[in-house]
Amino acid sequence: MGFYDRHILPHLIHIACGTPPIKERRRLVVPFAKGRVLEIGMGSGHNLIHYDQDQVEMIWGLEPSLGMRKKAAGNVAASSFEVTWLDLPSETIPLESNSADTVVLTFTLCTIPDWQVALDEMRRVLKPGGQLLFCEHGVAPDENVRRWQDRLNPFWQKMAGGCQLNRAIPTLIEAGGFRIDSLDTGYVRGGPRFAGFTYWGNATPR
Ligand SMILES: C[S@@+](CC[C@H](N)C(=O)[O-])C[C@H]1O[C@@H](n2cnc3c(N)ncnc32)[C@H](O)[C@@H]1O
Repeated sequence: MGFYDRHILPHLIHIACGTPPIKERRRLVVPFAKGRVLEIGMGSGHNLIHYDQDQVEMIWGLEPSLGMRKKAAGNVAASSFEVTWLDLPSETIPLESNSADTVVLTFTLCTIPDWQVALDEMRRVLKPGGQLLFCEHGVAPDENVRRWQDRLNPFWQKMAGGCQLNRAIPTLIEAGGFRIDSLDTGYVRGGPRFAGFTYWGNATPR
């Protein structure tokens, strides 16, 4: 990992993921988390203010990047939740099976290299009856936007920590062994359309 990934990228991700339109999307999923919550790729902790204090018992923040964990200090300090950090990638979640009531996945499935293994791991750690809440950007429905996503993807991946612009989010979640129980889609207001088509909803292990 070079200087850019360690020191510059965490600032860029913190800013890009903290805009008001992105916040609007977070509000549509994160407040539904309950019980023991595992957040995958917690980043700089932008979801923390959206958790319902009466519903959430505790939060594990899985985040492999030290730079992102450092960047989260402000949001963690401002939160009434104590975050238990897990500093491994989601392909190897260091939790017992059946330990989480909710897995929260926001703007991270785009970046996980082995998404299939990671989703297997998320299913493993979910308790029976637990759910996956997701809000992810991915492949756009409009052909002209999709063409730009495919063109930009090789460059974007390098600049954005491995983030892929054109992942088919619902297909991945279903291929990862989940049943999608609710799904909404739409472009994020204001942002670039090539990175702004989002999918949000909830899913349960099949
Ligand atoms: C675009 S950021 C989103 C952060 C946060 N989820 C949010 O909603 O603001 C993607 C995050 O995924 C993390 N990440 C990268 N590879 C990962 C992996 N294999 N497993 C889990 N998280 C990963 C990155 O370090 C980064 O913090």
